[in-house]
Amino acid sequence: MIQAPAPRPAPEEPEATRRVADDTESSRANRGWWDRNADEYQSDHGEFLGDSEFVWGPEGATEDELQLLGPAAGLHGARILEIGAGAAQCSRWLAAHGARPVALDLSHRQLQHARRIDDGRSPFPLVQADAGVLPFADASFDHACSAYGALPFIADTARVMREVRRVLRPGGRWVFSVTHPVRWAFPDEPGPEGLAASASYFDRTPYVEQDENGHAVYVEHHRTLGDRVRELSAAGFRLVDLVEPEWPDWNTAEWGGWSPQRGRVIPGTAIFVCVAP
Ligand SMILES: C[S@@+](CC[C@H](N)C(=O)[O-])C[C@H]1O[C@@H](n2cnc3c(N)ncnc32)[C@H](O)[C@@H]1O
Repeated sequence: MIQAPAPRPAPEEPEATRRVADDTESSRANRGWWDRNADEYQSDHGEFLGDSEFVWGPEGATEDELQLLGPAAGLHGARILEIGAGAAQCSRWLAAHGARPVALDLSHRQLQHARRIDDGRSPFPLVQADAGVLPFADASFDHACSAYGALPFIADTARVMREVRRVLRPGGRWVFSVTHPVRWAFPDEPGPEGLAASASYFDRTPYVEQDENGHAVYVEHHRTLGDRVRELSAAGFRLVDLVEPEWPDWNTAEWGGWSPQRGRVIPGTAIFVCVAP
């Protein structure tokens, strides 16, 4: 008689903590996390993002309305690097406006979702790589963009800024959105509990989820507004705008800790608009 196997203990929930995590550990953890969670992410947020829309964040502000890469008509023929592209929704919007995007992401599974949306024939290159080491020649892009891609997950974001500057041609724009830094002082909750400051805005210690052996399985990094400005200017960028989209009345959707209730009181997203002189 074959004995039924003993039931396996349920995998432990990762422990959430704040501790140091370098580039290597962050990249390994986040690649695994995004590969494991890409299906759920696209199923939860794909409809809000739209297959071919360029949405800058949970507030729902779009490139169509903000035109942070410049007037849409001017994008025709431009070679544009999208960093942390996920399923490449923004690149699809760029391609629809005549641009020549390249969609880069660390996660193979996220890029597979890009192929799924395009029925297996993406009309632009999909590149699996870490944003910290861009596999492109100097001055090979007209613009670069990122909607919540890569930067929140990388320890050495100053290096990413230098890499983006290297691959951009003079006059190119670098536009990226991240969680608004002020959020780090508040619990990541959509309700009223998310409106009472509980941590120091100045504490740059990463947020880490780790397994029972202390190995990181998810990492997010915090930079203050001043940190971002300094790393951009050290990389040679000129910051021309910092957009903080307000929560619009039409948007009743919650996205994790982003909600209409919080969005009406504190900013949720910061969009940095920079130029490479
Ligand atoms: C919140 S998603 C944003 C994707 C897309 N822009 C969207 O709005 O759905 C973050 C993306 O960054 C990617 N990512 C995380 N770390 C990265 C890294 N070091 N280099 C490149 N991409 C990275 C993840 O795989 C994920 O697809």
